Amino acid sequence: MARHLITSAIPYINGIKHLGNLVGSQLPADLFARYQRGRGNEVLFLCATDEHGTPAELAATKAGKPVAEYCAEMHEVQAKIAEGFRLSFDHFGRSSSPENHALTQHFAGVLAERGLIREVVENQMYSKADGRFLPDRYIEGTCPNCGFDSARGDQCDNCTKQLDPVDLINPHSTISGSTDLEMRETKHLYLCQSQMKDELEAWIDSKTDWPILTTSIAKKWLNDGDGLQDRGITRDLDWGIPVKKGTEDWPGMEGKVFYVWFDAPIEYIACAQEWVDSGKGTDWQRWWRTDQGAADVTYTQFMGKDNVPFHTLSFPSTILGSGEPWKLVDYVKSFNYLNYDGGQFSTSRGRGVFMDQALEILPADYWRWWLLSHAPESSDSEFTWENFQQSVNKDLADVLGNFVSRVTKFCRSKFGEEVPAGGEYGDTEQALIEELTTRTRAYEAHMEAMEVRKSAQELRAIWVAGNEYLQNAAPWSTFKEDPEKAAAQIRLALNLIRFYAVLSAPFIPDAKDTLLAAMQTENDAWPDDVLAALAALGPGHAFTVPDVTFRKITDAEREDWQERFAGTRD
Ligand code: 2FM
Ligand code: ZN
Repeated sequence: MARHLITSAIPYINGIKHLGNLVGSQLPADLFARYQRGRGNEVLFLCATDEHGTPAELAATKAGKPVAEYCAEMHEVQAKIAEGFRLSFDHFGRSSSPENHALTQHFAGVLAERGLIREVVENQMYSKADGRFLPDRYIEGTCPNCGFDSARGDQCDNCTKQLDPVDLINPHSTISGSTDLEMRETKHLYLCQSQMKDELEAWIDSKTDWPILTTSIAKKWLNDGDGLQDRGITRDLDWGIPVKKGTEDWPGMEGKVFYVWFDAPIEYIACAQEWVDSGKGTDWQRWWRTDQGAADVTYTQFMGKDNVPFHTLSFPSTILGSGEPWKLVDYVKSFNYLNYDGGQFSTSRGRGVFMDQALEILPADYWRWWLLSHAPESSDSEFTWENFQQSVNKDLADVLGNFVSRVTKFCRSKFGEEVPAGGEYGDTEQALIEELTTRTRAYEAHMEAMEVRKSAQELRAIWVAGNEYLQNAAPWSTFKEDPEKAAAQIRLALNLIRFYAVLSAPFIPDAKDTLLAAMQTENDAWPDDVLAALAALGPGHAFTVPDVTFRKITDAEREDWQERFAGTRD
């Protein structure tokens, strides 16, 4: 039995994620986790909320709540929505957990001991009114280049020039609006990634099977300009993991916290510890420590392309730099962006469909199917309501749903609600079984390779093959001359429903439950042998006709939703 450690990029705590976020990490990770479990492999699938950083602090202020309380509440909200989408995490952790505090401080201590952290004194903008140092993007002013009056401290959105906060004319704090700003000295820690460049490059070069999207981004960061830069890993914020060397104080770093991107990936490990501490799991070391059983684990990470540098360079620097036997990622599956109806999804502008809204209008399987079958793998892809309606109506309602309904209803009317006996398979049945065997093996190969769209295409082809068989065999006609033959045809078709439920489960898990319940079986064994799998429900096995498996989206609904989601969310 293979062992798979699977992590999805951990979503920021501030606010509910949109469908573009979902399809870029959590959903394909869930697809892979469900598939590997379906094949009988051992899986540990982890995700968490990413709770530190200025955006979390600001969102809490906006909500009028202490930040710890805000994060605790939003974690519950995100956990509920994840459940709604049937994301099958073994644990949904929190980067603010005590486990992550201790582990992040541990890594910092070890990296410092190994000479991989240096202290740097820098000047940073301080706002007296806010009583804090301001991150670059919380300072605005007039662009010295084009005169745009809302240029940010790091960049002008109008002329795109990269800026330093000191370049701005009339700078002010975006938190309080105060212009009472001054440069002050402050000390920060830098992770010496540049010292690890050769080791990282050799490691990335050894990953010849990684997606091009992943390696091209990693390579660009390794070699662009002056090459891999050391990274600041501390911030002057209140909310976060206090800077410590292991359990000891770090002189001169009082009142500072680690940068959110330093502690977030460490949460992948801390999350496994939380899983154990919560009583759900045992032995996290078996998944994460190569000296304690993790050497034979395959570790796969899922993420959007903007996260690639942190997972291919920064986090591996932490892991490799520690010199300790932590598990390194084996495969980094990254995604392009999903756009929304002619523009971009945007959290800050509330544009697009957000996860909670999606579930208010349709069950999870509808979204899962569309999103995964249109995953932005080789390029960005676009959500349009027309395309969504078309895919749902065709693939789910016409092809899969209709097959189930025709077969079960026909059987009920002619043979009763049990698998009919009699008759034998002929050439048409043999040909179908051969086709399904070939296609099932292709589907498995695509799933193993995490080729999400190709997997969806193959699964659709498997559904279509059953439909075409039914159309050609036409048991409703056969029945008139040769009821025995019709019985064999329907026996095969009823077995196909169970077969479809099992194969489709990673994409549409609720349908799997509905279909297996209708077929009155708990047998969800993977069809290693297609012929045998299609004989799982023998003559006399009782079933029921399920309610509509997938309904169609009407034109009126499509228009209504298009309009409802055209603007921005509050
Ligand atoms: O881009 C994001 O949503 C980040 N919160 C992802 C963090 S992934 C990891 F480092 F934990
Ligand atoms: Zn400008």
